[in-house]
Amino acid sequence: MQHIRQLQLALSILLVALLLLIICGAVLILNYNPGAGAQVATNATGNADQTSNPAAPVTQVAMSAEAKQGETIFNNNGCNACHSAGADVLVGPGLKGITQRRDEKWLVDWIHNSQKLIASGDKYAVDLYNKYNKTPMPSYESLPAEEIKLILTYIDGK
Ligand code: HEC
Repeated sequence: MQHIRQLQLALSILLVALLLLIICGAVLILNYNPGAGAQVATNATGNADQTSNPAAPVTQVAMSAEAKQGETIFNNNGCNACHSAGADVLVGPGLKGITQRRDEKWLVDWIHNSQKLIASGDKYAVDLYNKYNKTPMPSYESLPAEEIKLILTYIDGK
């Protein structure tokens, strides 16, 4: 009789321990969510590409603020009526990669007054003008160089 009591006691202790183990395991499994941290970063920037690199969104936000300003200037001045910021040709050439084709001074001069640059005999300008059937681009003499740089930042980000 004594033996059976002891056996029963040992069995109930074992059962309680097992139950605790199962509860602990269940709690751990329910709370385990490896994606949670990355999802916060993704939601903050709205950029799903950054999931794999949580350090990137900070620079991404700083960059896109300037690019956004550039986009607004690009659209408000009607550049988008003749140009895409990508590769598509509209009335004028697609501007994708423009900062690799031309330096900043050339671009500011061109946008301020393309006809003056063509008249000066700049070979690239003359060739481009001829390629686009001598369609003159409007002059933006009052557009500050700073705003032109923002436009270029926007195009660079495309
Ligand atoms: C009425 C149409 C029109 C508008 C508006 C216009 N462009 Fe142009 N742009 C052209 C054309 C056409 C060319 C090609 C050269 C030519 O025919 O003079 C050109 C060429 C360019 C080039 C040289 C592209 C290359 O591949 O080398 C740049 C840069 C440019 N435009 C920027 C701008 C910006 C920035 C604005 C707005 C501030 C703007 N353009 C507004 C028609 C336009």
